[in-house]
Amino acid sequence: MKYIAPRGTVDILPDKIDGWIGLENILRTIAENYNVKEMRTPIFEHTELFNRAVGDTTDVVSKEMYSFEDKKGRSITLRPEGTAGIARSYVENKMYALPEKLQKVFYMGPMFRYERPQSGRQRQFHQFGVEMLGIESPYVDVECMMMALNIVQALNIRDVTLHINSLGDEASRDAYREALKDHFRPHLKELCYDCNTRFEKNPLRILDCKTDKDHPAMKSAPCTIDYLTETAKAHFDKVCELLDALEVKYVIDPNMVRGLDYYSHTIFELISDASVLGAGSTIGGGGRYNGLVEELGGPATPGVGFAFGMERLIIAMNNNHLESQHIDVYVMPLGEESKDYSMQLMAALRANGYCADMDFADRGLKGQFKSADRFVARFSFIIGEDEVENETITVKDNITKEQKQIKVEEIIDFLDSKLGVR
Ligand code: HAM
Repeated sequence: MKYIAPRGTVDILPDKIDGWIGLENILRTIAENYNVKEMRTPIFEHTELFNRAVGDTTDVVSKEMYSFEDKKGRSITLRPEGTAGIARSYVENKMYALPEKLQKVFYMGPMFRYERPQSGRQRQFHQFGVEMLGIESPYVDVECMMMALNIVQALNIRDVTLHINSLGDEASRDAYREALKDHFRPHLKELCYDCNTRFEKNPLRILDCKTDKDHPAMKSAPCTIDYLTETAKAHFDKVCELLDALEVKYVIDPNMVRGLDYYSHTIFELISDASVLGAGSTIGGGGRYNGLVEELGGPATPGVGFAFGMERLIIAMNNNHLESQHIDVYVMPLGEESKDYSMQLMAALRANGYCADMDFADRGLKGQFKSADRFVARFSFIIGEDEVENETITVKDNITKEQKQIKVEEIIDFLDSKLGVR
């Protein structure tokens, strides 16, 4: 039998890992700048959590979940997204009772959706997400959007547009739902079976339908923004005003509804023009979810957040190389005795905080220099018989190409002077 990775999953091999670590480091730095702390929740949760939080008429829940029964017959699901788990944990750990009313958290990790794999769309993919729970204020919506935009900027991703819309509060959404029903009622016979079910249960989801997306009634459907209550409109106007004051460019997209049920008020997406992304041009999205915590048994608590698809960020970064990791020293032993000596030398280098590796393949100098290049080693240390006998090292500076002999007891001082004390 030939073993291959399951469809829609990808191995991240060592030659790609520098890009991932570089991305993760930038995301962590930005999180630190926004005073957002990391939070880690399980990769699997009770299926019921996603049915309730994300909504059982959404595609994510009804078509894309990886669900299974565990050995005790409980229905378990690999998380398709991060917000539900964070909200569940927020309630379970009574984070609403913490002295700091606004809890700002981020998470990074694998998510699972049974979708048709293509460029930027996988069945196991990674998200970097942020959730801000506890305060209902348009300022916090904009804090989230600014952080998302900062990430795009820091990664040097160009041609990304911020699309925003508002779904309003409960009363706005009730009015909108009725308007949608009135609009679609005369077309029900022409729409698919799923749309007919959605019509009864959750008419908003008709707008996500992939089968009927080209039906003329889709284009002429009413817009959420026309059904906002006064308070909801005031919230959205303030978001726009703040974005204007910060000189952020955005597009109001009255047809955007997002594919998850927990949203209320502001929703947003970051859409890239990069053709490499194809169908996966939405690199990130999010919005406000004021009812979610209460829905999961907690006290009424507003929330807002967003998530980026990390594979999509990497594709959109394209050739914006993040600095690839290099090593400080590549040790090149020539002969058996030199190998013992080299192992001791590497132990000393690492004990002093330097990043070192050596040739374990007994190759000649030429092959070893090739590895030093591949590892982008700052220095090569050549250790032959003479060096062992005289307790010296032939040091090659791989930038200046200069080569000189250095006494072994002086080598740490030498590196400290060149690379800074570690
Ligand atoms: P979402 O729009 O479903 O939102 O996903 C966020 C991002 O994850 C997408 O914009 C996309 O970049 C990426 N993504 C989604 N599915 C896939 C896939 N199959 N393959 C690769 N990337 C994918 C959420 O998940 C919400 N939880 C975001 C949020 C946080 N809203 C409030 N807080």
